[in-house]
Amino acid sequence: MTLRDHKYLPYGRQYLDDDDIQAVVDVLQGDWLTTGPTVQKFEDKLRQTVKSDYAVSCSSGTAALHMAYMALNIGTGDRVIVPAISFVATANAAVYCGADILFTDVDPDTGMMRAQDVLALIGTLSPEELQSVAAITAVNLTGEVAEIEAISIIARQYGWKIIVDSCHALGTTYLSRDGKKLAVGDCYFSDMEVFSFHPVKTIAMGEGGAITTNDQDLYDRLCLLRNHGIERDAEKWISESKSEIENPPPWVYEMQILGYNYRQSDIHCALGLSQLDKLPEFTAHRRRLVVKYDQLFMGLSAHVKPINSARGCSAARHLYVVLIDFKALGISRLDFIRELSSRNVGSQVHYMPIYAHPFYREKYGPQTRCGAEEYYARALSLPLHVNMSRDDVDYVTAQISDIITGIVPA
Ligand SMILES: Cc1ncc(COP(=O)(O)O)c(C=O)c1O
Repeated sequence: MTLRDHKYLPYGRQYLDDDDIQAVVDVLQGDWLTTGPTVQKFEDKLRQTVKSDYAVSCSSGTAALHMAYMALNIGTGDRVIVPAISFVATANAAVYCGADILFTDVDPDTGMMRAQDVLALIGTLSPEELQSVAAITAVNLTGEVAEIEAISIIARQYGWKIIVDSCHALGTTYLSRDGKKLAVGDCYFSDMEVFSFHPVKTIAMGEGGAITTNDQDLYDRLCLLRNHGIERDAEKWISESKSEIENPPPWVYEMQILGYNYRQSDIHCALGLSQLDKLPEFTAHRRRLVVKYDQLFMGLSAHVKPINSARGCSAARHLYVVLIDFKALGISRLDFIRELSSRNVGSQVHYMPIYAHPFYREKYGPQTRCGAEEYYARALSLPLHVNMSRDDVDYVTAQISDIITGIVPA
């Protein structure tokens, strides 16, 4: 097969089969299109999958983050700590609530916040700033796990709430320091974890998100927040009118807090449920592809480095990020991406440091975090999805090797 004959490989893509399509058709032929029994089934299955007490589905990962921050009553005057490297929504959703953002540095070799980055940030804060920190959000980037256990110890010490943005990491498991096998989403070290089911993530729902928690009060608040703040259960009403509570007229409900329409639909959850059934299979396939990439990159070039998993982590990778020292190779990342694309290999960059976006530059002035800059300068996401075979991985790595040998003669 010549280069140009190889099918185009995007960096990410959903995998749908006939069961997924039938599941959606069944809902379309039924009585419920918006929030109905399939939403509940999806939430039950998600909760069982990640081993949390509660799961609340919603319209996107961004909505999930917004609801999580709102559930913690985060508002004006509060500060939220987030890593410099993530999708902008991790920070934006706290800004929606009126909070300010403090960016930590990250590990230059994984893009993730470490305990040492949190301690370094604390060292730069005034007592007032430290006092105003309400929460910290760690991000399980690419599907790997951040140092959640160590970060949670620091956070608890300062009384901060802990959110984990696991939008990339549904299906990942890891070991605690004392050897317990934990699942991303079980909230063992956090108050809430947040997921996205955007098509390139480990399961696809079109648009979709969820929050998991083990805290019933947070769960109750999240349910209110996603549906305009409306409580229909008369047992939970807060108004003085006891007669209405004892004998509730059928049209009466209470709006108790300011919420949104962040509900998920039965249509989306039918797809999500069918995809969740296949999560173990998807994860195993993604792992096989990652192992193959890692093997092929081993020894390819001193300037090309895969991301290592933390000890005990069995990652369900959403992204295959490889760190390439473009400077040392003497090629710009843009030219590299263009060359890959001409060989039918799609790629992407995840992510530019959040503080470097004009909105945050204007809000907080220019900032730099050395680890984040080093990670960003080298990161390139290569194709990783369930439609791919190990031969496709061979193809991608062969193209990279070819480009590199073309630049640096052996
Ligand atoms: C780390 C991270 N957080 C949050 C989100 C937001 O998720 P959604 O696109 O479902 O709103 C994304 C989406 O790419 C993400 O990658």
